[in-house]
Amino acid sequence: MCGIVGYTGYRRAQPILLDSLKKLEYRGYDSAGIAVCGEGLELHKTKGEIAELEKTLPEIEGVVGIAHTRWATHGKPSQKNAHPFLDCKKSIALIHNGIIENYLEIKEKLIEEGHEFTSDTDTEVVVHLLEKYSEDGLEKAMLKALHDIEGSYGFVAINSKEKGTIVVARKESPLILGKGNDENFVASDIPALLKETNKIMQLHDGEVATLTPKSIKVVDLDGNEVKREWKTITWNVEDAEKGGFEHFMLKEIYETPETIHNTLLGRVSELQFAPTLHNDFSSVKMVACGTSYHAALTGKYIFEEIANISTTAELASEYRYSSRARERPLTILISQSGETADTLGASREAKLRGCPVWAITNYMGSSLAREVGERNVLYTRAGIEIGVAATKTFTAQLIALYLAALQLASQRHAKTSDQIRRMAEELRTLPRVAWGVLGKASEIRSLAKKYHKVEDAYFIGRGRNYPVSLEGALKLKEISYIHGEGYAAGELKHGPLALLSEETLVVAIAVQDHTYPKMLGNIREVNARSSPILGIGYEDDEELHRYVDDVLYVPRVSNILSPVPISIALQLFAYYVAKERGCEIDKPRHLAKTVTVE
Ligand code: G6P
Repeated sequence: MCGIVGYTGYRRAQPILLDSLKKLEYRGYDSAGIAVCGEGLELHKTKGEIAELEKTLPEIEGVVGIAHTRWATHGKPSQKNAHPFLDCKKSIALIHNGIIENYLEIKEKLIEEGHEFTSDTDTEVVVHLLEKYSEDGLEKAMLKALHDIEGSYGFVAINSKEKGTIVVARKESPLILGKGNDENFVASDIPALLKETNKIMQLHDGEVATLTPKSIKVVDLDGNEVKREWKTITWNVEDAEKGGFEHFMLKEIYETPETIHNTLLGRVSELQFAPTLHNDFSSVKMVACGTSYHAALTGKYIFEEIANISTTAELASEYRYSSRARERPLTILISQSGETADTLGASREAKLRGCPVWAITNYMGSSLAREVGERNVLYTRAGIEIGVAATKTFTAQLIALYLAALQLASQRHAKTSDQIRRMAEELRTLPRVAWGVLGKASEIRSLAKKYHKVEDAYFIGRGRNYPVSLEGALKLKEISYIHGEGYAAGELKHGPLALLSEETLVVAIAVQDHTYPKMLGNIREVNARSSPILGIGYEDDEELHRYVDDVLYVPRVSNILSPVPISIALQLFAYYVAKERGCEIDKPRHLAKTVTVE
């Protein structure tokens, strides 16, 4: 998400920091800032690009500093919300990647104690905590502050009263230390360090490191020193941007567990799953395009089951031009980018129709977020996605939909608070479930090797996994150029059966829910046409293998959550098929990541 760099040594920090920060531009950001210890502490920040920041920057002397690119999660993109943040005395500067869950509570206390705040961010509380505890130096202050905060973080701090020292801390947000000769570095990602050094050390969760030009000390949260090894890496910049993965798509699929965690962060523990709704409505309509539309359609099943409210899903390009019904459903616009022209048009139309609107998007400050009002947005917090085919952001949209449904269920008393709590707790297990699916990568790769030569594939599913079959087919077609179609399994006999042959692959999603017997019936219909069948089922399903050629098993979850592991498995399947076929995976022909034309 945010980009972090820090330098302490003997050279001027400013050009090194800016250069390193630019290597993180590929991750996306909305504002940038830098703080350097010269005579005192010099701070410069701006909304927009690093190039904008550079235009207004004087030449700052000083051999220690930190710099940051921000991807907004709390507080809109703006100069005041850009990092670094300073304490009241303007001697400590801090940058942060992550989310502080209990910041409001801490902020209130700090305000009572006389601290003054300048931003709407969660991060700023931490620089004031460092100030509060600064008596025994920055490292001790960091250790004390960490005991007060809950959430995820990569922190980097400097204090003009301890020149030459940088203190960093990590929990669930990457921080990499880099070793030079009489100079040391820190960054949130390896590409930022490569020009300066190839000696790196990944900081682990619960570790705090203190860097000076000649030393790096790592301690645990109790202040006990931890011995860590340095690694020499041989990656070039492009490899490093992909984190060692061959394609961004694969890297992003592997970021899914972290993404799920980030989307849930703070929302489950506080049982405030999504923005509160004040309007009255008796139905919900989800509107979106592409993969987001498949999330919307899955949302229909999620909302009807969890919140017990009648829900429809519509393509934004269709909704915009449909006739205006009398009903005023809660209209939920779903868009990864928040910039898709048809989805934006649909949000305007929904407002004209007098419908209450909500949005689910990954981009704070996006046109969609502005259109519906920041207060009505549920952010997916998936970080940037570079591969054109949406993967981790789709999963994050599903998670956001579960949260939104729980919010509605709680407001409408559709479930008891016990039931809601239990469901929310199960959401927390999903990062582990996602790892479970990723653990099957080599099995999925073998299946892809077996089937990559087919020219036609049908994905079939029922109920909540019908939209997942649509998404599985879309993933396959967009990156491997195989003709793929998703179908509600019950519809096979109304057309597609005519096309099935030994050359056609059928991917059948068959989880053991109330549709399972019918699904097995549909699989038998396919058997009769001799098409090879790849079944997708729960790990402990002992029956499915009897009816299909191969089974891809995913971890068992409550049935309502099954779209999560299954869609991750289908993303991996599409990826490996495309790889076998030698396709241009991250940039499929004729497609764009964000479609801003109608
Ligand atoms: C393009 C992308 C898809 C995406 C769709 C909707 O077609 O290639 O991956 O699902 O736009 O984009 P949105 O940003 O609104 O989710």
